[in-house]
Amino acid sequence: MPVTTSSTREIPETGLIPRHIAIIMDGNGRWAKNRFMPRMAGHKRGVETVRTAIKACIERGVEYLTLFAFSSENWRRPTDEVAFLMQLFISVLEQEVTKLHENGICFKVIGDLSKFDQKIVEFVRNGEALTAGNNRFTLTIAANYGGRWDMMQAVRKMLEQHPQLAASFDENDLMKHFALNYAPEPDLFIRTGGEKRISNFLLWQLAYTELYFTDTLWPDFDARALDLAIQSYQQRERRFGRTSEQLQTTPPGHGGREAVVKKTA
Ligand code: IPE
Ligand code: IPE
Ligand code: MG
Repeated sequence: MPVTTSSTREIPETGLIPRHIAIIMDGNGRWAKNRFMPRMAGHKRGVETVRTAIKACIERGVEYLTLFAFSSENWRRPTDEVAFLMQLFISVLEQEVTKLHENGICFKVIGDLSKFDQKIVEFVRNGEALTAGNNRFTLTIAANYGGRWDMMQAVRKMLEQHPQLAASFDENDLMKHFALNYAPEPDLFIRTGGEKRISNFLLWQLAYTELYFTDTLWPDFDARALDLAIQSYQQRERRFGRTSEQLQTTPPGHGGREAVVKKTA
């Protein structure tokens, strides 16, 4: 597995279009409630939005899309809602994986799958194997994922494989073992549904990600809403610790002017 660059060790190249977008898809329940429908109707509708988001990201040149589908804390929900979400996950996998493959999309799932039904795990692993060679676009679904779980499992794996690192290790040693080790750190984080929190999503990887929060509920998040998020991203000055003045003078290839693209630049 390639080790992706750490934004705290090296300033990443950035462009007008975020290479990697990570989204907390929140607000399905409220969307349904607003329509006097059961929460489950909101989750079903949310799947439609996932399709729209994938298509829109590909059309705009985004390379990686990571979607938070079920958190390690979502088991705390009523059992019937958890069961419904699992069933929905299976049926979507059954319907969509071949289509993803036909569209040249690499499909990945990150999270602790050990708690999942064996049937789901098999679908996931088969889907990942089928699409592993696709490099046009990578869709990652975070299922039973938690940022803290990820850090803990990474430390555990690293020490199992390299016990000698217990005495001393660096970021690169650890990063190889993160569930998302194949993707660059997200450039843009989006949370729909109005809450302004990370909810234990990608804690390590969001270190220098641009954060965007919108009140739009996930089922209403369409291509136009995505464009608003990208436009907001394009207004940001990504300094990675430097001063604004430095960005104007740093030579190319050193994370300088072209590395931090403002809409007006
Ligand atoms: C997000 O929508 C989907 C999951 C967490 C599975 P919610 O179900 O959290 O919707 P709200 O926040 O209750 O509206
Ligand atoms: C975060 O949404 C998890 C997912 C979208 C999968 P929640 O709705 O569960 O988050 P909290 O509990 O309100 O922070
Ligand atoms: Mg919610």
